[in-house]
Amino acid sequence: MTKVPLVDLWVQHQQIADEVQRGFARVFESTAFILGDDVRAFEEAFAQFCNVRHCVGVANGTDALELMLRAVGIGMGDEVILPANTFIASALAVARAGATPVLVDADPLYHLIDVHQVERRLGLRAKAILAVHLYGQMAAMEDLQGIAQTAGVTLLEDAAQAQGAKRHGRGIGGWGIAAGTSFYPGKNLGAYGDGGAVLTNSDAVAQKVRALRNYGSEVKYDHPECGFNSRLDTLQAVVLRAKLARLAAWNQARCQAAQRYHELLQGADDVTVPATLAGNEHVWHLYVVRVARRNEVVKRLNAAGVGAGVHYPVPIHLQGAFKHLGHKRGDFPAAEAAADEILSLPLFPGITPEQQQFVVAELKKALCQP
Ligand SMILES: Cc1ncc(COP(=O)(O)O)c(C=O)c1O
Repeated sequence: MTKVPLVDLWVQHQQIADEVQRGFARVFESTAFILGDDVRAFEEAFAQFCNVRHCVGVANGTDALELMLRAVGIGMGDEVILPANTFIASALAVARAGATPVLVDADPLYHLIDVHQVERRLGLRAKAILAVHLYGQMAAMEDLQGIAQTAGVTLLEDAAQAQGAKRHGRGIGGWGIAAGTSFYPGKNLGAYGDGGAVLTNSDAVAQKVRALRNYGSEVKYDHPECGFNSRLDTLQAVVLRAKLARLAAWNQARCQAAQRYHELLQGADDVTVPATLAGNEHVWHLYVVRVARRNEVVKRLNAAGVGAGVHYPVPIHLQGAFKHLGHKRGDFPAAEAAADEILSLPLFPGITPEQQQFVVAELKKALCQP
């Protein structure tokens, strides 16, 4: 039995259950199942929360990234630079837009895209940089902005793991031309199924994504281009509206839980705790430590009832899906070393001090075993 799951979504559900039920009843009564008032209201509220002009809801985070790439004109023959240590979807979106992912290493401390390597990989075909705000904190966006401006390429953000995060006070979608995010249930702002959104200050990008998500159409039955059916589901928008009202408080609870882990792990020399890049307001989507003999440690933790996870065990360049890029082990040493050592400890709003003490006690036990 899992005593402390990696993520406990039930804690959040209990707080919004009535509101969601009322919202679902409202949608059922109106029978407005596609887009409609709830999607519009959520989009407005989330854009306001992120302090950007537009939020366009789509079917999932992978689509958000793909539609965002297409909306800024990325396609066949273009290169998009992104980190090797991310969830597969970041690279899939680039490939699905018809472009070529150009991978760079992570920095070994924060696991964020290595800015210096980005500069080195800017070739003639490079059209965009896709920064990934991994684990809940933003990449060094001011540096990437400078590089992108000098090189004349588009800066984009994968903000699937960073809803509410800020860098020097500025949030997701406010640094790049646009950001794509995911409402996969376990995210900081998670739906009860799939969902995603594009955030942008650009009227043109927002308009383009709105058309692309809706069969390439702005006017019913008029399709000037090929689009997709990728709208944010109306019932998911009901859930997201209820959760958004609590997101700031839940992110705060995540910060407190991360702080508690820092304290509990003080003096544990065989555990490297996560670091926050100066200037970042971290929203702790994941609390990722590093340990030696990680796979054994995970097995022991799981056996003891701790839902530890690994995000992610195989970097993009070693995935079969991208073997055509021609990489081999050794190409991105920081991403590879991290993939072998990282371990995500349970963290969610509502995790109790006792649960965290249990997790850390079991982690220390697991590390002591020969
Ligand atoms: C960094 C990152 N990018 C993209 C995605 C894709 O989002 P989705 O699963 O909603 O398609 C995810 C989450 O799953 C993610 O963590």
